[in-house]
Amino acid sequence: MNIIEVKNLTYSYSEEQINTLHNVNLTIKRGDYVSILGHNGSGKSTLAKVIMGLCPNYQGTITINGKELNKENLAAIRKDIVMVFQNPDNQFIGATVEDDIAFGLENAQVPHKEMRDIILDYANKVGMSNYLDKEPSNLSGGQKQRVAIAGVLALNPKIIIFDESTSMLDPKGKKEIYGLISLLKKNNPDLTVISITHDIEEAYLSDYIVVMNHGEVIKEGTPNEVLKNASELAKQNLDVPFQVKLIDALNKSGFDIKEDASLEEVGDIVCR
Ligand SMILES: Nc1ncnc2c1ncn2[C@@H]1O[C@H](COP(=O)(O)OP(=O)(O)OP(=O)(O)O)[C@@H](O)[C@H]1O
Ligand SMILES: [Mg+2]
Repeated sequence: MNIIEVKNLTYSYSEEQINTLHNVNLTIKRGDYVSILGHNGSGKSTLAKVIMGLCPNYQGTITINGKELNKENLAAIRKDIVMVFQNPDNQFIGATVEDDIAFGLENAQVPHKEMRDIILDYANKVGMSNYLDKEPSNLSGGQKQRVAIAGVLALNPKIIIFDESTSMLDPKGKKEIYGLISLLKKNNPDLTVISITHDIEEAYLSDYIVVMNHGEVIKEGTPNEVLKNASELAKQNLDVPFQVKLIDALNKSGFDIKEDASLEEVGDIVCR
């Protein structure tokens, strides 16, 4: 079943600016891990903000978990969907890391006696349990992203949108967070994750990919469908993973290797 349905969505921030989003149609299946790709300014964050109900003056319809996005349903929808913003500074409200994670839980009316354990658990999961009494503004960019991620995961939502939420993490930190998300998805197969990312390796591992350009969805499908044409993606300014580049280059020089071949299979073909 589809957990998000976007139909004929058009949106502009102001009258002077025409169509930041133009006639976007998109369906997202419950339980999928969806990557949204596209170069800077293509409308990815705007799409996420409109879906979150933060930009009300749009044309079209948006349905989230069976409820149409409108004023009446907004409070109920906010229980289902959470977002980690691109700039982690926009996420912080509390005076300390602990207050900050607590704030979301308070809003979600989690009983006070359960809160402390949940905060500790998620701070631990993102490796920030030693920073609970620190001021969020004094943390590094990557630490802020970890706290912001803990804050939304603790809410146990149905849908999470990550807007380049691991962009400031080092490769080890990124791996840890992806590991945490895949563990959460394993324990809760209905959890839907939308990840806005420039990381093609991450996109390659997702169930579905959506590519945006100039406020429109220009391509969507499984990673094999979308990533099969490496040179087209390169034109979109996205970094293509090593394996796709390698297969593309080998095929151009006369080999006939399937797009989804593993590195071992590539090795067997090239070396035989
Ligand atoms: N608050 C705003 N007010 C007016 N225009 C905005 C606002 N936020 C974004 N825009 C404009 O809308 C367009 C789409 O921006 P958006 O932030 O959605 O792009 P993006 O795909 O998320 O880019 P990036 O990869 O750089 O994060 C851009 O032209 C941007 O300048
Ligand atoms: Mg953005």
